Amino acid sequence: MSATIIDGVAMSRALLEGLRAEVAELREHYGKVPGLVTILVGEDPASVSYVTRKTRTAHELGFHEVQENRPADISEAELLALIGRYNADPDIHGILVQLPLPKHIDETRVLHAIDPKKDVDGFHPVNLGNLLIGGEAVTFRPCTPAGIQEMLVRSGVELDGAEAVVVGRSNIVGKPLSVMLGQKGPGGNATVTLAHSHTRDLAAHCRRADVLIVAAGVPKLVKADWIKPGATVIDVGVNRVGFNETTGKAILAGDVDFAAAREVAGKITPVPGGVGPMTIAMLMQNTVRSARRHLAAENGKA
Ligand code: GUN
Repeated sequence: MSATIIDGVAMSRALLEGLRAEVAELREHYGKVPGLVTILVGEDPASVSYVTRKTRTAHELGFHEVQENRPADISEAELLALIGRYNADPDIHGILVQLPLPKHIDETRVLHAIDPKKDVDGFHPVNLGNLLIGGEAVTFRPCTPAGIQEMLVRSGVELDGAEAVVVGRSNIVGKPLSVMLGQKGPGGNATVTLAHSHTRDLAAHCRRADVLIVAAGVPKLVKADWIKPGATVIDVGVNRVGFNETTGKAILAGDVDFAAAREVAGKITPVPGGVGPMTIAMLMQNTVRSARRHLAAENGKA
């Protein structure tokens, strides 16, 4: 039987509708809207596409939205100065520096320079530390893991006591997600395995998974016979495997062999139209929450 498709587009639309109402409420209450700056260095096509979608969504929600494009040869000092400017800007509640950065820039130094209270990506060590502590300490959940967790909860996937296998240990997805799924509470309580490029017999680990999340960056890495029948499969991969001359768009493939996997899985996300739209929705949610905290503090209610 064919798997149920987890529709990230429909799910994100519902989330964004809720946020639109929150923006209206903030405008009415404080006379201000959430402010988000996206900083793009260079012209990597995937990064350009991601940032364009983020700024477009922010604009559609009625945010104060600023896009800062800088050439690939910008110095680290110039980039740090730009971040410093937005750290001090009271109309900006969220700062996002699109990754990866060019090799001559120290990514860690850049991420550490963002005010943790405006770190809507959740990549600052203060926010990652709070994520590890869990519960009330959590300020910003990183957007892709948060989007995945939200999709699982909204799809009614049972995580409590489930075997969750995360493939890929990036700072952006795998590492934070593995922590989040193991925390106490809704969307957590799973028994988590974090698999990676050095994992022995990756297929065997995947076959144990009730919930399998793949963020390896390898097109069609996960085959149908790696999937436990009825399992939930979340595909985070966005691999550019070709170019369609007619549409002028990149041809994308996930990290899962979707056509075969959907015949085995119980629930599965497509690529595109799965995790990607939810990542953007969670960025918007983080920015609205950040704005709410900043505006309440400015108005002496925090
Ligand atoms: N590059 C790939 N994913 C992300 C993300 O979630 N945030 C940022 N800033 N860069 C990315």
